[in-house]
Amino acid sequence: DWTMAAYREEQVAKIREQVGDAKVICGLSGGVDSSVAAVLIHEAIGDQLTCVFVDTGLLRKDEATQVTTLFREHYNIPLVHVDASDRFLGELAGISDPETKRKTIGRLFIEVFDEESSKIEGAEFLAQGTLYPDVIESLSASGGPSQVIKSHHNVGGLPDYMKLKLVEPLRELFKDEVRALGRELGLTEAFVGRHPFPGPGLAIRIPGEITPDAVATLQDADAIYLDEIRKAGLYNEIWQAFAVLLPVKTVGVMGDARTYEKVLALRAVTSTDGMTADFFQFPWEVLARTATRIINQVPGVNRVVYDVTSKPPGTIEWE
Ligand code: XMP
Repeated sequence: DWTMAAYREEQVAKIREQVGDAKVICGLSGGVDSSVAAVLIHEAIGDQLTCVFVDTGLLRKDEATQVTTLFREHYNIPLVHVDASDRFLGELAGISDPETKRKTIGRLFIEVFDEESSKIEGAEFLAQGTLYPDVIESLSASGGPSQVIKSHHNVGGLPDYMKLKLVEPLRELFKDEVRALGRELGLTEAFVGRHPFPGPGLAIRIPGEITPDAVATLQDADAIYLDEIRKAGLYNEIWQAFAVLLPVKTVGVMGDARTYEKVLALRAVTSTDGMTADFFQFPWEVLARTATRIINQVPGVNRVVYDVTSKPPGTIEWE
């Protein structure tokens, strides 16, 4: 009968056979899938693997540090950390259209990744954390606009000039199986249990124009929201929870003064695959505590609202 321990051994043997003594590059996004793929491949071929982490500046608060610390200090996996946040935010300046944001990020990601990987001499393989649902979605015509990046990032999206062969050890797995494999490989529960995060990151959680200030505000508010969810013991009951910083200002009062600041929307859904979703029914006090903390601690936000739209008819993300 099938166990994750057996799957791990089988994949390790497969990777060794496929790669031989060639060098492999793995693109790390900061998420669970590419991290699990990297740890598995490292187990198979050790330092023949180099990871390239393209830091877009659009990750959740402190996530870039968590990933680099985990890889460098805990697993001792060779890691190139490219802080490309200025480049991403620079090129995104003035762009409001969601699909243009996605395309810009996809193009930059590939450019930066390609620049870095071409510095790694003699690499023959590219490792990716492609999951079974990614494989299916990239084959279906109905993937919709949100799949544009995925098809770039995860499935066969190599520019022609990168003649690398693919290593995709997670191709047969669903999300929950990737998490189980991650646990099997010794990743912590807090790491493997993290909510899914879209490739374009916080860029699609700031409707309208993206500025460095807006990103920082959203990171702070989002971190408070997730902290309250964890403290309430609800994190693992939710498929995805995140904040959206709206380009709308409303009037408020603080002490004796009127304020005129932005609205923050909170989103949380339950789902099994992201294709359909129900909005999460929080106990009111969790939302109330979160709203109070965000308005008191995050400058630039004076009102918090909760999204009660399920999918369909809504999507999980706002863009
Ligand atoms: P939607 O908003 O379409 O999201 O209901 C379904 C799931 O897909 C994620 N998502 C993306 N992931 N690139 C990604 O890698 C994207 O452009 C993208 N758009 C949405 C979303 O977070 C949810 O898990």
